[in-house]
Amino acid sequence: MAMDQAVRDIEDPIEEEENEEIFFTEIDELQNHGINAADITKLKLAGICTVRCVQMMTKKTLCKIKGFSETKVDKLKEAAAKLDSASFITGLEYSVQRKKVMVISTGAKQLDELLGGGIQTMSITEAFGEFRTGKTQIAHTLCVIAQLPTAMGGGNGKAAYIDTEGTFRHERIKAIADRFGIDSEAALENILVARAYNSEHQMDLITEIAARFAEEKGIFRLLVIDSIIALFRTDFSGRGELSERQQKLNQMLSRLMKIAEEFNVAIYLTNQVQSDPGAGMTFVADPKKPVGGHIMAHASTTRLYLRKGRGEERIAKVYDSPDVPEAEAPYAITVGGIVDVS
Ligand SMILES: Nc1ncnc2c1ncn2[C@@H]1O[C@H](COP(=O)(O)OP(=O)(O)O)[C@@H](O)[C@H]1O
Ligand SMILES: [Mg+2]
Repeated sequence: MAMDQAVRDIEDPIEEEENEEIFFTEIDELQNHGINAADITKLKLAGICTVRCVQMMTKKTLCKIKGFSETKVDKLKEAAAKLDSASFITGLEYSVQRKKVMVISTGAKQLDELLGGGIQTMSITEAFGEFRTGKTQIAHTLCVIAQLPTAMGGGNGKAAYIDTEGTFRHERIKAIADRFGIDSEAALENILVARAYNSEHQMDLITEIAARFAEEKGIFRLLVIDSIIALFRTDFSGRGELSERQQKLNQMLSRLMKIAEEFNVAIYLTNQVQSDPGAGMTFVADPKKPVGGHIMAHASTTRLYLRKGRGEERIAKVYDSPDVPEAEAPYAITVGGIVDVS
C-alpha cells in the first residue's frame, strides 16, 4: 500500500517542484522581455520550450525557423541571456548543480555498483550488445524503477519510451511492477510510450517529449530510446549515405544531451554491434564494436557493452566513462526484470 502511494505521488512531487523551478525557465517568460507571443509559439513548435534551450541553440539554427531574421535572433539571444545567464560559475556553484543528479537503479546491485549507483540523470547511458543480451529488458526494468522512491533506488518520476523496434511489452512492465510490489496499472500509467517508424519520426517524437518535459516540470526522470540507431540503418543505406546518416544522428544526439541536462532526466539508449574487422588482427576474443562511430562515442557519457555469459548469465562492461572505472558485472534476466546473478 505504501508503494502504491509512492507511485501516485509522482503527480505531486512537493519538494522537487521547487528545485525544478530554479532548474529551467519556461520560454513564455521571454514575453516579459520583449519577445512576442507569435514568435514564442514558433519556438515551441520547433521544440524549443525553455530559455536554456534558446541558449543551447546556435544562431544559425534559430535563423532556420520561419520568419526569424538575424536581428530577431540577436534580440532573442539577448532576452534569453537576461533571464538565464549561461556563463561562468564557480566550482562550488557547479557542485551544487551536480547535486541534483539522481541515480536510477538497474535492479541488479552489481550492475549498479559498476555504474556508480545506477544510471544517472543529466547524462546519456548507452547499452550496446548483440541480440538477446538484455538491452530491452534493462529498459523495461528502468521504466519501473524510475518510479520508485529514491530510498529504493528510484527516481520518483515518470518514464518515456521511444520504441523503434516494436519490442515494448506492457506485460513485462506488469511483471516487473509485481516484483517491486507496486500496482501494475499505476506503473503503466506512469510510462509514455511511442512507436517511431522512421528516423525523422524518431526526431519528431524527441521534440514532442521535450515539450512534455517542459510542460510537466520535474515529473519525468527517464527517457528510453530502444534503439537509437536501428531506423537510421534502415533509412540510410550504403557508404554513399553514411555521412548524411552520421550528420542526422549527431543532431539527434546533441538534442538528447541538451534534454538530459535541461530536465534532469536520465537517458538510456540501446545500440547494436557490428563486427570489428580491425580487431581481428589483435587477440581480442570478441571483436565487436558499437554502431555509430565517434559520434555515438562522444554523445554517451557511459557506455555499457553487454554480452552473454554462461547459461542465463549476462555480463556488462563499462567503456570509456569519465567517472567510472572500466570493469565488469554479471547480471541475469528474470520475469521480474534485471537481477543479480545468484
Ligand atoms: N519474462 C522473461 N523471463 C525471463 N527472461 C526473459 C523474459 N523475457 C525475456 N527474457 C530474456 O531476455 C532475453 C532478451 O532480452 P532483450 O532485452 O530482449 O535483448 P536485446 O534487447 O538485447 O536484444 C532473452 O534471452 C530472454 O531469455
Ligand atoms: Mg531489444
